[in-house]
Amino acid sequence: MYILGIETSCDETAASIIEASTKEKKINILSDVISSSLPLHSKTGGIIPEVAARQQLKYIIPVIKESLERAKINNSQIDVLSVTVGPGLVGSLLVGIETAKTLSFAWKKPLIPVNHLIGHVYANFTGGIKPDFPSIALIISGGHTDLLLMENFGQITLLGGTRDDAAGEAFDKIGRLLGLSYPAGPLIEEKAKKGDPKSFNFPRPMINSKNFDFSFSGLKTAVWREVQKINKPNEKIIDNICASVQKAISDILLAKTLNAAKKYKIKSILLSGGVSANLTIQENFKLNIKRHLPAVKFFVPEKALCTDNAAMIATSAFYNYQPIPWENIKADPELYF
Ligand code: KG4
Ligand code: ZN
Repeated sequence: MYILGIETSCDETAASIIEASTKEKKINILSDVISSSLPLHSKTGGIIPEVAARQQLKYIIPVIKESLERAKINNSQIDVLSVTVGPGLVGSLLVGIETAKTLSFAWKKPLIPVNHLIGHVYANFTGGIKPDFPSIALIISGGHTDLLLMENFGQITLLGGTRDDAAGEAFDKIGRLLGLSYPAGPLIEEKAKKGDPKSFNFPRPMINSKNFDFSFSGLKTAVWREVQKINKPNEKIIDNICASVQKAISDILLAKTLNAAKKYKIKSILLSGGVSANLTIQENFKLNIKRHLPAVKFFVPEKALCTDNAAMIATSAFYNYQPIPWENIKADPELYF
């Protein structure tokens, strides 16, 4: 079957067509088109919702059109539509949702609403990979840091989340303190390559707490204090701060994931979300999972599927096939688990 996925929860306008086989649970991404308004936001140091929504309106039709062209199929061949309904910015979400509803009505195709966060987890299954369940899934994005127990497809329980900033948000806010443009995650990763992760001993909030919650705002404050003390840090110091911050964030994420993995006796660990594109974090996970839980398999989506995309939305719709009448589909900016 052919599934069209539409994702417009934030600053990316994305459409993808996947070919999925129910029998073999095999997935083929035929097209994965993304138009990002990020360059506009890097100038303002963060996303301005009004600007993001206007860009969504401008690009939604061309992006969907291109996803059909690249997949070399026409709309009559599409079997089902899927769209992100939350969480996200309401103005951005509405553009994708109203477009999907209109197409569902006009093309007479069923429509599946998708939780963006669950979509991130399913980025791990875009190739049709079937991990051994139960799994621990860690979503690390700009808006969320969530640790989940996944007992099977469609069976997800929230174990813990962030009490303040998300991991990506911590990267972005700390980057801002260091004068880096938005989004700072990839820039911090680059600078960290030249720095020493042991040069600053930044705190690792809640790393030893018994629960599976996270907190990153104390780390941000510690970096702010350090930057105030140094007053105009040079390039070398900035590289060292970046390496130390990245290590602190990575250590917290890893410790909580390993604790959950041991507690629930799981068979695989799934990373997802923009921060999981970070190769140093991936390496830290790979190495320590092998060392502490050698029987546990580790999965992370390919780089382009870590950040927001529509292939993950279509894939999530395939594994959780629950169409609902378009009249009943609404945006839910606060949607969670
Ligand atoms: O999943 P995503 O594309 O969007 C949300 O749903 O939030 O995640 C975006 C976040 C941003 O905070 C960005 O700084 C972070 O992911 N990010 C990274 C890297 N690439 C993106 N953080 C650390 N290292 C990276 N390489
Ligand atoms: Zn996301």
